[in-house]
Parts: sequence; structure tokens; C-alpha cells
Amino acid sequence: MEHKKVIVTGGNRGIGKGIVLSLLDQGYLVLATSRDSKKFDMSHQNLEVANLDVCDQASIDDFQQIVNDFDPDILINNAGITKDNLFLRMNEDDWAEVIDTNLNSVFRMTKLVVRGMLKKKWGRIINISSISGSMGNPGQTNYSASKAGVEAFSRSLAKELGSRNITVNSVAPGFIQTDMTQGLIDEEITKKIPLQRVGSVEDVASLINFLVSEESNYITGQTLVVDGGLFMK
Ligand SMILES: NC(=O)c1ccc[n+]([C@@H]2O[C@H](COP(=O)([O-])OP(=O)(O)OC[C@H]3O[C@@H](n4cnc5c(N)ncnc54)[C@H](OP(=O)(O)O)[C@@H]3O)[C@@H](O)[C@H]2O)c1
Repeated sequence: MEHKKVIVTGGNRGIGKGIVLSLLDQGYLVLATSRDSKKFDMSHQNLEVANLDVCDQASIDDFQQIVNDFDPDILINNAGITKDNLFLRMNEDDWAEVIDTNLNSVFRMTKLVVRGMLKKKWGRIINISSISGSMGNPGQTNYSASKAGVEAFSRSLAKELGSRNITVNSVAPGFIQTDMTQGLIDEEITKKIPLQRVGSVEDVASLINFLVSEESNYITGQTLVVDGGLFMK
């Protein structure tokens, strides 16, 4: 089996960690990033780790050489944050920080990898969005806007890169049990989910496994939802 090389941002915990473990299981070579790579509590012969703050241009610049040496086939833009507040109480810093971490970072990271993928005439860019980007959520004007932006970015880039056999897709999870949703999930929310349970990081990783594989060759510019049926169009 050919071992494709994958970069996962925010791979040290939550959904990112679930994705990293699942890709390693299948034989991919993974470069996982964290703001502090000492935070990785896993090791594997096919795992490389690196420090990266997706909001810090100096950190991004330092990472370019690591990307060039690793020569990735696949980029998974997973790092993200919430800073929830009702709009009337939301200040501009909370708006800007979420847009910068969740949306501007996708622009910065994609810049780092796209030339290499163009040379290979093969690539996969997968952006972790959220159903909040399509359905909206009170308290999440900043987060919803960032995720809707990520999905729109993916569609336009998919049209630019399709002729070079590079696909660009978004994955939109619903409620997944991680630090991000700690204290937010209650019985009321679970009752609204048709599958009657909150998702696991493995539920998201299963979809990623499909998207990184050759099985997804003819899918691009899409937002694939993994939410137990909570948001149906
Ligand atoms: N959990 C859900 O229900 C859910 C639903 C829909 C979408 N999502 C999306 O899924 C992705 C992962 O979420 P999660 O639930 O796994 O969250 P999480 O457990 O809070 O983990 C967030 C990850 O992002 C990294 N990160 C945050 N800011 C960063 C920055 N400036 N530079 C580099 N890395 C940064 C964190 O690194 P540190 O350890 O250094 O903080 C951490 O690895 C996010 O994009 C989120 O919006 C989550």
C-alpha cells in the first residue's frame, strides 16, 4: 500500500486526535500539529509532531519548511475555537479571534500546501466546519460566520483546483463529545438528535477516512454532515 502523507492541525486532542489515531491505524504517515507539541500524549512510528499556532504568522512561516520536507498529499484543517456570546454582548475581539482561528487559518494553511499538491497532480484538502455554519446557532454569530466562510472557501477552491485532481471538501459535525462541547450537551439536546446520542470523535474520523481515500475521488466542493441527523436540509 502507498503511504499517503497527511497534515492534521490541532491533532493533539478532540476531533483532531481522533482523526490522527484513525489515520495512523490505516497506515497513513501523519504530521500532527499543536500549539505545544509536548501536549501529544501519543506516539507512533508514523507520527511526526510539530508546534504550530495557526493565528501566528511567524509560526506559519516557520512551519513552511516542515511542510516542504514532509511533502503532504492531504491537509486537514481541524484547529478551531468557539467564543460564544449573544450578539449584543459579543465584543469585537471575540469576533476577530474566532474568524482568525477558524477561517483565516484555513487560507494560511492551504497556501502552505497547495503548490506541492499541484506538482503531484493529486491532493485532498478537508476543512472541518460545523452544522452551525448552515443552520445558525444563538450565541455563535462569530463561529457560524467562520464556518460558513470555510464552506464557501472550499467550494471556490474546489472549482480552481479540480482540473489538477485536487479535491476540497468540508466536513460539518454536529454535537461531538470533546473539550469544546464540555458542559454544553444535555438531555434536551440529545433528544433533538434523531439518532438520540451525541457523536464521538470516531464518528467524524470514519467520514475523514472515506474522504482521504481513493473511494472519494469524484467528490469535491461539498459539505458532508456528520451529526446524527440533527440538521437536515
Ligand atoms: N466538538 C464539536 O461538537 C464540534 C462540532 C462541530 C465542529 N467542530 C470543529 O471541529 C474542530 C475540532 O474541535 P474539537 O471539538 O476537537 O475542539 P477541541 O477539543 O477544543 O480542540 C481544538 C483543537 O484546536 C487547536 N487550536 C485552537 N486554536 C489554535 C491555534 N490558534 N493554533 C493551533 N491550534 C489551535 C487546539 O490546540 P490546543 O490544544 O493548543 O488548544 C486543539 O487541538 C474545530 O474546528 C471545531 O470548530 C467541533
